[in-house]
Amino acid sequence: GRESTKHYYRKTVSFPVQNLSTKTVMLLGGWVLSVCPSVCSCSGGHRDVDCSFKSLTKLPHGLQHNIRFLNLSFNSLKDLGGQLSRYDHLRTLDLSYNHLESLPSVLPRSLWDIKAAWNRLRSLDKKDTAYHWNLKLLDLSHNALDRIVFINNTLLSVTSLNLSHNRFWTVPTNMPHNLEIIDLSFNYLVQILPGSLDRLPKLVKLYLHANHFSVLPEGIFDKLRALKTITLGDNPWACEEEDSITRILRWAEQTPATVLGCPCYTTPVCGQS
Ligand SMILES: *[C@@H]1O[C@H](CO)[C@@H](O)[C@H](O)[C@H]1NC(C)=O
Ligand SMILES: *[C@@H]1O[C@H](CO)[C@@H](O)[C@H](O)[C@H]1NC(C)=O
Ligand SMILES: *[C@@H]1O[C@H](CO)[C@@H](O)[C@H](O)[C@H]1NC(C)=O
Repeated sequence: GRESTKHYYRKTVSFPVQNLSTKTVMLLGGWVLSVCPSVCSCSGGHRDVDCSFKSLTKLPHGLQHNIRFLNLSFNSLKDLGGQLSRYDHLRTLDLSYNHLESLPSVLPRSLWDIKAAWNRLRSLDKKDTAYHWNLKLLDLSHNALDRIVFINNTLLSVTSLNLSHNRFWTVPTNMPHNLEIIDLSFNYLVQILPGSLDRLPKLVKLYLHANHFSVLPEGIFDKLRALKTITLGDNPWACEEEDSITRILRWAEQTPATVLGCPCYTTPVCGQS
């Protein structure tokens, strides 16, 4: 009917297949819906798209609206604005090794994995993290982040958060409650605010090595009931501050978790191993 034609027309017109007339587009409808940008390689009915290593400075033309995997890594992308918002079937997005200073402003909520390591991200806002109900993995390692704002009770599917090699000096608060892995190694961390690790009941691995910690607040890890591995090595622990260090060491001896890089110890591992 008229409605569906209109709808169809609107959809196809948004494809930048400029050399096809409207008539051809309509005749070849099914075919046109299966397009692959000429610079990329596609598989899985053109729904899995690999555009890595193509010197791209902008999003390639001709991406199918229903793509589920998009690899844009190793390019020269600076700003994608809201251009990815229409790909609302997208599950995996790899933006690693680009020149992005912020995450694309509107990302599809269908996403499971966002990889944006090795960019120039400086901070993450509420608008970047809210609404991503489906997101499981967020890799923002090797950026310039010193701030990330998590809204309480959002990102509830996220199990893995990689913030290593950034510029954090304090552990982000309000981290998503179902996290199983947090990597905060290679930052400038000097403190963890009391209570900020209290509601992470599923956290199994916590990486805090290669930071600037000298002391930790009392009982900071006490509520991490699922913890199996924690790394504390390569921090300038204040070994002369006996009270504080004794507290950490006592915790390390009692915890069922494996503590790699035991503070002020001569052995590399303490805890239960
Ligand atoms: C994207 O492509 C790069 C380079 O080929 C590769 O190393 C990386 O694993 C790919 N990303 C995903 C999510 O498969
Ligand atoms: C977050 O939500 C929980 C309930 O789901 C509540 O107990 C807690 O106080 C909230 N925290 C903040 C910082 O708002
Ligand atoms: C986090 O990212 C860094 C650098 O990309 C990588 O070396 C590290 O293994 C990742 N951490 C986890 C827990 O996957």
